[in-house]
Amino acid sequence: MSHESKSKKGLLPRHLLAIESSCDETAAAILSHGEVIESNIVSSQVKIHREYGGIVPEIASRKHLEAISLVVNEAIEHAGIEIADIDAVAITQGPGLVGSLVVGLSFAKAFAMARGIPFTGVNHLAAHLASIFLESDTPGFPFIGMVVSGGHTSIYRVNSMLSMELLGRTRDDAAGEAFDKVAKILGLEYPGGPVISHLATKGDPAAFDFPRAMLPDTPLDFSFSGLKTSVLTTVRRLENDRSHLPVEDLCASFQEAVVDVLVKKLIHAARDNGIYEVVVTGGVAANSRLRQRLSSEAGREGIEAFFPSPGYCTDNAAMVAVAGLHQLKAGIEARVDADVYSRQFS
Ligand SMILES: Nc1ncnc2c1ncn2[C@@H]1O[C@H](COP(=O)(O)OP(=O)(O)OP(=O)(O)O)[C@@H](O)[C@H]1O
Ligand SMILES: [Mg+2]
Repeated sequence: MSHESKSKKGLLPRHLLAIESSCDETAAAILSHGEVIESNIVSSQVKIHREYGGIVPEIASRKHLEAISLVVNEAIEHAGIEIADIDAVAITQGPGLVGSLVVGLSFAKAFAMARGIPFTGVNHLAAHLASIFLESDTPGFPFIGMVVSGGHTSIYRVNSMLSMELLGRTRDDAAGEAFDKVAKILGLEYPGGPVISHLATKGDPAAFDFPRAMLPDTPLDFSFSGLKTSVLTTVRRLENDRSHLPVEDLCASFQEAVVDVLVKKLIHAARDNGIYEVVVTGGVAANSRLRQRLSSEAGREGIEAFFPSPGYCTDNAAMVAVAGLHQLKAGIEARVDADVYSRQFS
């Protein structure tokens, strides 16, 4: 990428400040000596966006602007250090909402320039994949990594934290987006994932036979828009009959269809690549049905499944710190003219 420069010597920061602002969470973390997350502060705007049934980008950027100094100060205080102790900054550069990313990147640049310290721009998906290294139980390289979140559903062969090959991605909706849209159809609150997974525990996963898009020609790609439409058609039919809407069964059956596809494709990717460690990251990785089914089905194939703890699945800055640390150690620093990017390139 053109906005990066490689310094001759890598850097192991004593206290790395990491910031995340790609979507609707303003987050900051301090990683000390490349090992310890001293603080991890997440300020979520979810209650504000809930009123609108989804994220309103203009509101998101304004709220980031209000929150960012407070969140960074809280992270520094919580870590028990001084601003002067920070010797590098890692910042999410993209993909995400442009207005939100700009707030974080501008803050990080100003902070780093004022103090004369380096900063590095982190890819949000690489940060999600790096979240597994916040745990004590970690995979070796290469591993198969999946990011399954509000905006992405992609499978990678992860050779190192600096080298990832895209093996497959969604052609339309992301899995988290499908959870959010189905929640809206069912009149449930935003974000849909937590509420659907909760209601699903009381429903029958076999009550409705929703479609599973397996896409045999490109078996590692995904498509969730047909599933969402099928839930919508079913709900309309049930409403026409004026019967009571079986929300719990609908949630359980929808969730089962998503989980079926994710588990099958992830195991397929592992087998195809002869790699027996798989990592699932991003907001949907917090889903307990997915965690339970992947662990047991992968286990039967001799594949070990790794998940970050639920707090590290959704957006946070601790994962940005881990990804940023690897870049700084490799001497990858951003230049002052670095810009944000809204979409993933590959
Ligand atoms: N328990 C759960 N089950 C299923 N989905 C969940 C669960 N918890 C959260 N989600 C989903 O995760 C998504 C949020 O995850 P995350 O914060 O990683 O996404 P994002 O940052 O908005 O998107 P991206 O990372 O692609 O830019 C939402 O779509 C939400 O519904
Ligand atoms: Mg995310």
